[in-house]
Amino acid sequence: MKNTLDVIKERRSIRKFKPEQIKEEELQAIIEAGLYAPSAVNKQSWNFTVIQNKEVLDELNVATKNVAKCSDNEFIKKMGENEKYNCFYHAPTVILVSGKDDERSKVVDCSAATQNMLLAAEALNVGSCWVELVSLAFMGPQAKELRDKLNLPEGYTPLYCVLLGYKDMEGKAAPRKENAVQYVR
Ligand SMILES: Cc1cc2nc3c(=O)[nH]c(=O)nc-3n(C[C@H](O)[C@H](O)[C@H](O)COP(=O)(O)O)c2cc1C
Repeated sequence: MKNTLDVIKERRSIRKFKPEQIKEEELQAIIEAGLYAPSAVNKQSWNFTVIQNKEVLDELNVATKNVAKCSDNEFIKKMGENEKYNCFYHAPTVILVSGKDDERSKVVDCSAATQNMLLAAEALNVGSCWVELVSLAFMGPQAKELRDKLNLPEGYTPLYCVLLGYKDMEGKAAPRKENAVQYVR
């Protein structure tokens, strides 16, 4: 197992996965890492939906892209219009992270849980990517149908997902931003 500081530096977004499913013990360790994230006032305002069904993922991808197509953001619109684009990059496992609607810190809590899962995946040498685009599907006309299909608990809305699978590419680190730190000593 790699040490924590190496895991943080070596984690990169993976957007090409091998079709082989990850091991159940890897999945459970990653989920546990998410559940152990810090949260404001310990509200743990998250809910995780593990999706390993290709048909459901395909449906969710299409629903996401249908909403993306109508975006006034050119970058998002282009992703929606690109027939070849798969917002899950064909990852065999997707964990949908939903936030409790009436919790003030849901976005921060869910972000902490998401990052914990990405780091746990890297520690296990499982490829991962944080994907927000999927949240669009739950703002569009298929929202209710998708919520029912995924058995989403009442009062929670999907914010992000974590893609998981064995890496089929090398992740490359973008250069780090300069002048992002000031010291007062
Ligand atoms: C809030 C958030 C939303 C993101 N949404 C997407 C997404 O929808 N699709 C995607 O391919 N990557 C997404 N990413 C991944 C970023 O593009 C990626 O983290 C960034 O380019 C830095 O690359 P690295 O993860 O390899 O360090 C998201 C990351 C964050 C933190």
